[in-house]
Amino acid sequence: MPDAGLLAILLVTGSIGAAAWALTEPRPAFSNDADEALGEKGDPAKGQLIFALGDCGSCHASPGQSDRLRLGGGLALASSYGTFRIPNISTDPVDGIGAWRTIDLANAILSGVSPAGTHYYPVFPYSDFAKMQIGDVRDLIAYLRTLPAVSGKPPPHDLALPFRIRRLLGFWKLLFFDRKPIVPDPDRGGAWNRGQYLVETVGHCAQCHSPRNRFGAIKPEQRFAGGTDPEQVGYIPNITPKRIGNWSEGDIAELLRTGNTPNHGRVGSSMTEVVTNTAMLPQSDRDAIAVYIKSLPSRATARP
Ligand code: HEC
Ligand code: HEC
Repeated sequence: MPDAGLLAILLVTGSIGAAAWALTEPRPAFSNDADEALGEKGDPAKGQLIFALGDCGSCHASPGQSDRLRLGGGLALASSYGTFRIPNISTDPVDGIGAWRTIDLANAILSGVSPAGTHYYPVFPYSDFAKMQIGDVRDLIAYLRTLPAVSGKPPPHDLALPFRIRRLLGFWKLLFFDRKPIVPDPDRGGAWNRGQYLVETVGHCAQCHSPRNRFGAIKPEQRFAGGTDPEQVGYIPNITPKRIGNWSEGDIAELLRTGNTPNHGRVGSSMTEVVTNTAMLPQSDRDAIAVYIKSLPSRATARP
């Protein structure tokens, strides 16, 4: 007869295991029967701007070609967890996402859940994209569907062991993923609210411009205060007034149009591509982003 103590331990660990398993379950934003509600067609012309501000092409365009609209993937992103390989999101029905339903794309972008029901790694910046309005997601999807099919499937990610287990991302999501939409502030003007929406959702500016904790999540109290770049090779500057307090809203908007900084320099590295994209936006959106960035609280980090 098994020892009663051992049996109790087994029962307890068993139920903790079952509870943990249940907690990490991927929760898609939309259930299967929602496809109809989403079925309404988006506007690809508007979606093109979402695609630009979301920098989708910077990650998903295949390296070694200048066309940022051929989304065959394959870019390798080194990180402390291993190497991520960006997937093909072109309209190729086999190697890309050409066969996906609208709901599959919406679930990927808004909840980081794949059509197979697994979690995505948050290097795909869905933690910000998830706060997008559904109308914008529809437009983005309509635009993605106008892009060319590119064949070829990039190799899988090459990650160290615990990080290979996608189910564990359920814990990460429990701790750090919040799908709450952006709340407009009625005491601020329309431009500030538009800026908040663009910066905190599709623009995902904080994803590069913030320090992260050891689980790779942004430290909320130092959001926008600068941090090591995701590949751990460079340092991305603080964009709170702590560093750019002497820039005017006009200076920030100008940088987003031309890449020029008020001290007669030009931004470089990964910001170059961000600027190529923000340059496509209407001036009113660049102005709105500037108003919001200018209003950020001053936050310090160890580096400027
Ligand atoms: C910083 C790089 C980066 C940016 C920017 C980015 N993605 Fe991704 N994306 C990824 C990575 C990495 C994955 C793979 C995640 C995984 O395997 O868990 C991914 C996965 C995806 C997938 C799922 C593909 C599949 O085969 O399962 C879709 C769809 C997608 N991204 C769409 C987009 C769209 C649309 C945008 C712009 C709004 C975008 N991504 C911006 C890095 C990025
Ligand atoms: C892919 C990563 C990435 C994203 C996304 C990103 N940035 Fe940057 N940004 C950088 C890097 C890197 C630099 C420094 C460029 C350099 O070294 O010249 C920079 C520089 C800047 C600067 C100039 C700071 C200075 O002191 O010179 C501003 C302002 C800025 N970014 C604003 C934004 C805004 C607003 C967004 C969102 C719309 C954004 N960035 C999104 C990487 C990023």
